[in-house]
Amino acid sequence: MDKWITMADLDAYPEASDEEIREAMDFAVKQTEENLAVFTENFPHCCSEKDFYQPGPNRNWTTGFWTGEVWLSYEQETDPEKKAALKKAADIQVASFLDRINRHEEVDHHDMGFLYSLSCVAAWKLTGSEAGKEAAVKAADQLISRFQPVGEFIQAWGEMGAKDNYRFIIDCLLNLPLLYWAAEETGEEKYRDVAEKHIRTALANVIREDDSTWHTFFMNPETGEPDHGATCQGYKDGSAWARGQAWGVYGTAIGYRYTKRPEYIGYFRRVTRYFLEHLPKDLCPYWDLTFGDGDEEEPRDSSSAVIAICGMQEMSRHLEGDEAAYYTSIARKLMKAMIDRYAVKDDKKSNGLLLHGTYSKKTPYNTCTPEGVDECVIWGDYFYMEAMERFLNPDWIIYW
Ligand code: GLY
Repeated sequence: MDKWITMADLDAYPEASDEEIREAMDFAVKQTEENLAVFTENFPHCCSEKDFYQPGPNRNWTTGFWTGEVWLSYEQETDPEKKAALKKAADIQVASFLDRINRHEEVDHHDMGFLYSLSCVAAWKLTGSEAGKEAAVKAADQLISRFQPVGEFIQAWGEMGAKDNYRFIIDCLLNLPLLYWAAEETGEEKYRDVAEKHIRTALANVIREDDSTWHTFFMNPETGEPDHGATCQGYKDGSAWARGQAWGVYGTAIGYRYTKRPEYIGYFRRVTRYFLEHLPKDLCPYWDLTFGDGDEEEPRDSSSAVIAICGMQEMSRHLEGDEAAYYTSIARKLMKAMIDRYAVKDDKKSNGLLLHGTYSKKTPYNTCTPEGVDECVIWGDYFYMEAMERFLNPDWIIYW
């Protein structure tokens, strides 16, 4: 048995139609609206427990995804009363994000973009929220405070300068749009300058010769030279953590959006090709791309699929002709797989949107804390909705 889908089988896979996406989006909006009763003052935890999210405070790196879902639902909703209810809930959450950055609560890490682009930049773009703008600029200030001039990168985690954390991680590519936005809004170049330096360092080092990617990459704190790659959440050093590869797909596309540097199209093609060539037959990646058909004891990570869909949709906006059509078509095939086999269809079975995500699976060879294996993960739900929004509304103004 082939471990991964052949490109001929991928070509033959059916695409999701607009009607199928419309139906799935309507369910997602309804599910989001029903969840507001529990998740307005509180936020869903990063991962479900037996497919149900539990409420908690605005502390984790993941809470922005939920507010992003509320804003996407707000954009989709046509009933004025329901739309107003969504806005009210989102505004309460934006106030919570402003309070969080003002109190500096759990913000000593690089995930400011995941937190503040989808909640507060979205609020500013959609409704002109001053609280959203203030919070997002403060979050951008926090993000640039993690810039390491020796090596020119944003340090992901831990105490600044600590030798065992002198590294960046591929996920951070999605935090950079917050800096491009802050540069535009404030007219201050310091934000763009950090983003530009980080993306150059990251993309020069994170993609391996075979087009797979490192999850984390250490720089030498004395010389600033590249030191070595390592995994935290992947199966082992040198394997391709599925979500890291998906962050690479979306990260290179969004990097191109903001820099227009032609070589980033080349990086996008490489990491996307690797991702697609390591999908199993049903198009939902295993949590590490080492695994494929025949490894059924290993969990999937559906969130990687929807992140990659958004990346292909984003890059299709910047490509022309057959190549743009190719990535749009592949994105629709993955969307079909998600809607048919991975999406929640019954609110009694889950209060999430997308089943079979994996946050962190512990192995003897990685360094993560185990959590959320074969569960809904809140960013999976968010990117599932973003992907549908992009299909239904090609002119969608992105929150990133
Ligand atoms: N950014 C952390 C993760 O993808 O799990």
